[in-house]
Amino acid sequence: MSEREIEKPLWEQWADQRAMATGERLQKVLALRGWGSRRVCEDMIAEGRVTVNGEVAVLGRRVDAEVDTVEVDGVQIGLRPDLVYYLLNKPVGVITTASDPQGRPTVTELVPDEPRVFSVGRLDADTEGLLLLTNDGELANRIAHPSHGVEKEYLAYVNGNVPGKVLHRMREGIELEDGITAPAKASQLSPGLLRITIHEGRNRQVRRMCEAVGFPVQRLVRVRIGPLRDSSLAPGEWRELTLDEVRQVVESVAGMPRSYDRRP
Ligand code: URA
Repeated sequence: MSEREIEKPLWEQWADQRAMATGERLQKVLALRGWGSRRVCEDMIAEGRVTVNGEVAVLGRRVDAEVDTVEVDGVQIGLRPDLVYYLLNKPVGVITTASDPQGRPTVTELVPDEPRVFSVGRLDADTEGLLLLTNDGELANRIAHPSHGVEKEYLAYVNGNVPGKVLHRMREGIELEDGITAPAKASQLSPGLLRITIHEGRNRQVRRMCEAVGFPVQRLVRVRIGPLRDSSLAPGEWRELTLDEVRQVVESVAGMPRSYDRRP
């Protein structure tokens, strides 16, 4: 028995032994939840990317998916049936905060009441499009954290044809009152229809960028959050993310130092 095992209280040692003896093999559990073939999952375990209850897992580890906390690259994922992930197409006029003194409808009224979820980032009341809602606080923190630079893509409708030099300014960064914006991706799909991709989360950023270059936004639609797109959702409709989408989101924010996760 290792020194670490000896430090553990007896009941924990017993619980570990029980899980190891009775649970499913970790690579099988991960594969069943969409992390790739068993071979790929074995490689992830061998690379030390998978922890069980906070400890790096070794090949051959068995887990009880109902009880054990399994993390890949530091993010708990897919094994807890209580975690939900919804992709909503937010309509205009619905607000992203949990309640509104003016009594406007909120995004949480559009999805199931239980379990309680919150939105990852926000969209203005007058902005439409994709919004992620979840009760997975850790994943939400990672997506919202600017160091990950998760891309958000918008379609911005403006009046008139936007000259190339204006798009170029957006790509370079625009001086706003709260500082210069990070370089955006900006292109014109047809006269007056811009595709703008940013990875910061500043208040009304796309609107302020367009306003600053003389083309105020008439309509703004978010069409992508990192790997998530769905043009088939009607305004007000939502669906659960597929396991593959959850995995893609996790992968897009993987690699943050664990000290961040555990910050009080
Ligand atoms: N930029 C905006 O201006 N509004 C949003 O809702 C999101 C990004």
